[in-house]
Amino acid sequence: MLVITDGSVVLLEGKKREYLVEISDETFHTDHGILDLGELREKTFGDIIRTHLGYEYTILKPRAPDFFRHCKRTGAPMMPKDIGIILAYTGLCPEDTVLDAGTGSGILAIYLGSIAKKVVTYEGNGEFVKIARKNIEAAGLRNVEVRHADIVSEMPRLRKKFDLITLDMKDAAMVVPHVKKVLKPGGFLATYSPFFEQTEDIRVAIDRGGFHSVQTLECVERKLEFTKRGTRPSTRVAHTGFITIARL
Ligand SMILES: C[S@@+](CC[C@H](N)C(=O)[O-])C[C@H]1O[C@@H](n2cnc3c(N)ncnc32)[C@H](O)[C@@H]1O
Repeated sequence: MLVITDGSVVLLEGKKREYLVEISDETFHTDHGILDLGELREKTFGDIIRTHLGYEYTILKPRAPDFFRHCKRTGAPMMPKDIGIILAYTGLCPEDTVLDAGTGSGILAIYLGSIAKKVVTYEGNGEFVKIARKNIEAAGLRNVEVRHADIVSEMPRLRKKFDLITLDMKDAAMVVPHVKKVLKPGGFLATYSPFFEQTEDIRVAIDRGGFHSVQTLECVERKLEFTKRGTRPSTRVAHTGFITIARL
């Protein structure tokens, strides 16, 4: 049986709403009444907790997509569809060590840390570092280390080698020339950028760097909408970013 202890973060899934909450002596106000969070201590995952008005929420163990939807954000986190491309095309596995920058809200780092042995993630903004650390701690990950530093100046000083390097930051092209020194043979570099211009700069830097199997992809996700009028793909056009994957 999984025990819910103080400080743990759980997902409360109701019929219409869901919340990510920390176990404490506090109360939590929902649209359907008040929850006593202390009651969660006597519960396990799959159990039900009720508001003072009798509305039910199922207690679930949160996973990476729950943190994407509910954790505190400092900017635009990478979308699960794009993270999926990185995980699938690099074949990330439990023996791998990962270097990630920038951390942002820590969403990509949470997905990476849920699979890899160790993730070291760099963030240049001190306030973002604090929030990312809280998000990562809430996800229960002890293998993700957030470092407060500028990755562009830090890169030449790194001595360890990694299996995967992920770059989701404006100046990724400036980091690429240093990647070869800190990537293991056969390791992957994966970059993400929202604009053609940044992507082109990254491709130019990669082409100078002796990588192979280079590809740039855009992942288009189309949700189906089921309405009374009919069923069709969502009419929202959703560009997020371009992912470049390269292997050493
Ligand atoms: C788009 S966000 C990353 C989002 C993140 N991948 C996620 O899924 O939550 C880009 C982050 O890179 C950080 N950043 C930009 N340049 C950096 C640098 N040279 N070194 C470290 N962090 C940097 C920014 O402060 C910002 O938080």
